[in-house]
Amino acid sequence: MSELLIRGRVLTFIDEPQGIDDTASYLTVDDGAVLVRDGKIVAVGDYADIRKAAPADVTVADHRPHLVMPGLIDTHLHFPQTQAIASYGAQLMEWLNTYIFVEEQKFAEPEHAAFIAGRFMDELLSNGTTTAVAYCSVHPQSVDAYFTAAEQRGMLMVGGKVMMDRNAPDALRDTPQRGYDETRRLIGKWHGRGRAQYAISPRFAITSTPEQMEMAKALVAEHRDCYVQTHLSENRDEIAFATSLYPDARDYTDIYARYDLLTGKTLLGHCIHLSDREISVLAETGAVGVFCPTSNLFLGSGLFDRDRFDRLGARWSVATDVGAGTSFSMLETMDEAYKVLHLQGQRLSPLNSFYRMTLGNARALGLQDRIGSLHVGADADIVVLDSSGKSAMELRMRTAKSLADELFILQTMGDDRCVAEVYVAGRAMKARKAGAAARAL
Ligand code: GUN
Ligand code: ZN
Repeated sequence: MSELLIRGRVLTFIDEPQGIDDTASYLTVDDGAVLVRDGKIVAVGDYADIRKAAPADVTVADHRPHLVMPGLIDTHLHFPQTQAIASYGAQLMEWLNTYIFVEEQKFAEPEHAAFIAGRFMDELLSNGTTTAVAYCSVHPQSVDAYFTAAEQRGMLMVGGKVMMDRNAPDALRDTPQRGYDETRRLIGKWHGRGRAQYAISPRFAITSTPEQMEMAKALVAEHRDCYVQTHLSENRDEIAFATSLYPDARDYTDIYARYDLLTGKTLLGHCIHLSDREISVLAETGAVGVFCPTSNLFLGSGLFDRDRFDRLGARWSVATDVGAGTSFSMLETMDEAYKVLHLQGQRLSPLNSFYRMTLGNARALGLQDRIGSLHVGADADIVVLDSSGKSAMELRMRTAKSLADELFILQTMGDDRCVAEVYVAGRAMKARKAGAAARAL
């Protein structure tokens, strides 16, 4: 049985930090180690103790002085938009029609879908993200490409075929029946195969007819263990259009509520312009509002009101939302999250940022037993972060006085250059990538 001992400064969260000094919310071990066997964590603690208990011939990966943390989790992005990041000058509806609905048509081609799916997974891993929840395109072959690429790398990924049967080009539209049949078949093929998890994905109320929403309702009722993902209240014009298409609904949230799409496994992208009533509905149903700061700034959509979510007891998570989001990096995402909240007089402590990227997002997915923290029995999805990964960071780190200082520097200045290594189920992926590149030469 092969074992791996990952040595470094271990940091993992136990609970949500309640303030900048909440040392009870996390575990940190200065000369720490994580012992991995068969893709799972079997021990965590002081290096000296774990080394003694491990087999004499155990492989040691020495990452000192870097931080050894749970792999980062991204709860909302679009894999077919990988090549549409940085598309200039439009707000949501114009951006979708001008760039995105053109780009997504390329995914009818299985070779293109397979190429982008592989690059997408590698981009996530380069940024220290080991689990993500993504939309595929309307084409079932894009879902096959997505889960195949995840499976080849051993990653726990959530995703699903977008369902859309109106207000999109012909080539991107399914029908209520086809959306239902294809989704059912893909759930049967992928959900629970290895680490794959399926998300039933009606894109948003604008691109689904009431007939398709009925089909989504049936799928959710028939597959309670699948996730549900859609978009809610991102942009004022979008809200006006969506509510005009469903005149009987009280508000945008009520559209999804009427089709029983709001559950504890539902992820709702954006949730920017919600009333207290709507946020309370999310709180009652357990649906999660997904905060996508780089996207919300890029499309000029608005500012996510985190304090109102907390006050009304609604769940929220964080995400990149590539390709409206402008970076695959969760570090850069939390940098922008800090600024979005700051603009509204709200605080996001560095401890809370790192909790959110790891255990917080794992909890949002109900996957906290498997990912998001370094506990015995968890999957060994691990990121190694170098807080001096850029020369300006190395200089700034010389003046850091605390762990909170270091984490804030990492999120404010860091990016993929700070990811020294990433492990998926105990397998080092940076080395694997370098090896693959070398073989290609
Ligand atoms: N709303 C519906 N589809 C999308 C999408 O692809 N990106 C964003 N940001 N919002 C959406
Ligand atoms: Zn989105």
